[in-house]
Amino acid sequence: MTKKHFVLLPGDGIGPEVMREAKKVIDALDIGIETSDHLIGGAAIDQSGTPLPQDTLDACRNADATLLACVGGPKWADAAYDKRPEAGLLGLRKQLDLFANLRPAIVFDALIDASTLKPEIVRGLDILIVRELTGGVYFGQPRGIEQIGKNERRGINTQVYTTSEVRRVAAVAFEMARARGKRVCSVEKSNVMESGLMWREDVTALHAEAYGDVELSHMYADNCAMQLLRKPSQFDVIVTDNLFGDILSDAAAMLTGSLGMLPSASLGAPDAQGRRASLYEPVHGSAPDIAGQNKANPLAMILSLAMALRYSLNDGASADRIEAAVHQTLADGIRTPDIAAGGAAVSTAAMGDAVTARL
Ligand code: IPM
Ligand code: MG
Repeated sequence: MTKKHFVLLPGDGIGPEVMREAKKVIDALDIGIETSDHLIGGAAIDQSGTPLPQDTLDACRNADATLLACVGGPKWADAAYDKRPEAGLLGLRKQLDLFANLRPAIVFDALIDASTLKPEIVRGLDILIVRELTGGVYFGQPRGIEQIGKNERRGINTQVYTTSEVRRVAAVAFEMARARGKRVCSVEKSNVMESGLMWREDVTALHAEAYGDVELSHMYADNCAMQLLRKPSQFDVIVTDNLFGDILSDAAAMLTGSLGMLPSASLGAPDAQGRRASLYEPVHGSAPDIAGQNKANPLAMILSLAMALRYSLNDGASADRIEAAVHQTLADGIRTPDIAAGGAAVSTAAMGDAVTARL
């Protein structure tokens, strides 16, 4: 068996704690994956002065997959944008051209009461948000803050998309929908934004050209936020831009009970050999308030590992094993504080042990 190499980027805050548990699962699987740890975010700034050191980027380029926990924290919050931990993550996404971010929101039966929504609204929920990840207002130029008078400044960011950027992420959404509920809802604000109108038209054109077997609908982003809370089961796949995807995926995550449950996969375009750059990360942030306390939920990180096995190693069987172990752990009533609804809770490490024991 040829060894596969995963780069692990623990990052900041609760990152090292949740990554440690994912590493336990990798070791327990015993399927020939070797790993190496690299710096990103605040941890990298502290050691080398930059949030995305060159050797980290090189390692990610050469890896079969990269797992990242989370970056950021109050310690670095006052630095310039390009010297903040987040710049490491955004730089990695951009440098590897990871334009398609898959954020599944699945409600586990055992956790139905952890959701703030009524059980009948969220039971059986299984939606996939496909977020555009390398364009839009996150990267658009011009950007900045300029002085335009005494005590008067102007803050600028630019929302910009090209047809090819829209088509490639929409294609991923259609492909994903084909393998599940065959419905895509494209989300923008074409009622007020030209970039949104172009988005809608380009998605519609691609659909007519190549994806007639998938049902396409359109929705304004504000309505989508409302519909996610009102009747989330109406959605199968949602495709949307970088900023709306950031916001809507946090909302979708919360339907499942906790941000601590949601994995994500970020994918680039496949090369001639079918290999694609990839990054797997939980949707949650670095949670500085509970960092170092062995309290964080490692399940989103562990489920991100499952996505890595599925999409980067084509090893659905091992991914299934991990997901089944997570289901079983939850069915057995084992909870970290975020999903314990005030009841008995175990530590980060104990949760990782529980999953590993059930593999
Ligand atoms: C996410 C995060 C990031 C984003 C931050 C940490 C830069 O919120 O992955 O959703 O805004 O994309
Ligand atoms: Mg976010």
